[in-house]
Amino acid sequence: MRILVTGGAGYIGCHTCVVLAERGHQIVIADNFVNSSPLVLQRLGRLTQKVIASHRVDLRDHEALNTLFSTYRFDAVVHFAALKAVGESCERPLDYYENNVCGSIALLQAMVRAKVRRIVFSSSATVYGDPQQVPLDEAAAVQPCNPYGRTKAMIEQLIGDLCASDPMFTAACLRYFNPVGAHPSGLIGEDPSGIPNNLMPYICQVAVGRREQLRIFGNDYPTADGTGVRDYLHVLDLARAHADALEYLADTGRNLTVNLGTGQGISVLQLLRAFEQACGREIPYEIVERRPGDVATIYADPTLAASTLGWRTELDLDAMCRDAWNWQMSNPDGYRALERVRRIPALRTRRRGNIAQA
Ligand SMILES: NC(=O)c1ccc[n+]([C@@H]2O[C@H](COP(=O)([O-])OP(=O)(O)OC[C@H]3O[C@@H](n4cnc5c(N)ncnc54)[C@H](O)[C@@H]3O)[C@@H](O)[C@H]2O)c1
Repeated sequence: MRILVTGGAGYIGCHTCVVLAERGHQIVIADNFVNSSPLVLQRLGRLTQKVIASHRVDLRDHEALNTLFSTYRFDAVVHFAALKAVGESCERPLDYYENNVCGSIALLQAMVRAKVRRIVFSSSATVYGDPQQVPLDEAAAVQPCNPYGRTKAMIEQLIGDLCASDPMFTAACLRYFNPVGAHPSGLIGEDPSGIPNNLMPYICQVAVGRREQLRIFGNDYPTADGTGVRDYLHVLDLARAHADALEYLADTGRNLTVNLGTGQGISVLQLLRAFEQACGREIPYEIVERRPGDVATIYADPTLAASTLGWRTELDLDAMCRDAWNWQMSNPDGYRALERVRRIPALRTRRRGNIAQA
């Protein structure tokens, strides 16, 4: 298939591009690089030994999308592009609704116009909000408790309504739990700008000496060691699920909304200890107040992913920590260090700067 990957230069997107390329798909990336570096594209070229077409496109730019869809004949879209920081979404809710929801509407409109009727969408376990019970299966209530989560729930609804209006339109909404880790080559990985919002990149930056110590938000939760419990999964397992979902849509013509997690809860301290094993050093930490909005325990029931997609996680916590550390050690300052030594070539712009070859 020729697949448009929106947000393909981002953390999960670029790992998925590797898996899709390995399965023989042709990939075109559309990204505005608001939270990623164009240098990812060179790394992807090295990893896949293929030229991956990529365009600097903001999804809210209707004209740019039309040009993209008239330049290529896509068989499917994998839609990652979004802003994703929960805290920031509470501070700048309208930016999140505009970027995530309006961007998705523009994308879906372009797909409808171009008669591209297959989409895999990056949703999130955040749509469940504060869970009533764990493990969480897909029948659990969708009641997100922050603007970011609400954008994901809204986009799921938009896609559902579109599928209902056109039986030829098929979609898989993938509700990710907590992706961590990196490609074992150390060439691509998670590179947050500013202070990391997520635990694993924070631990990595402490381990590599970029930050002094980890702050653990609360050790008085009703969990075995008092710290929060989440469902961490290796980003390559997650990437594989996208390829499986595309094949599922093509083979069955059915829609799907599915959890992607290991089904196992891991506490903050357990993750920290596993990471210390992987990096062979102690990670200093302090316990601070709970963060408002954090829940004690959340992990997936991944049964539906197994029965529909035949998908199960294969990589364990040690592999997640080993690969995250390998990426961080090989790239202590992420892609930024590369940007400093190597000037990014000027982007060649077509159509008033709407689409640029990156
Ligand atoms: N990382 C997680 O923990 C997690 C968990 C659940 C769901 N998700 C979802 O998965 C998707 C990918 O997440 P990620 O961790 O790779 O994030 P990321 O920020 O690394 O990647 C998102 C990419 O989208 C691009 N982008 C954002 N807005 C855009 C726009 N308007 N037009 C074009 N490009 C745009 C960014 O530049 C970036 O490259 C997101 O939709 C996110 O909400 C992530």
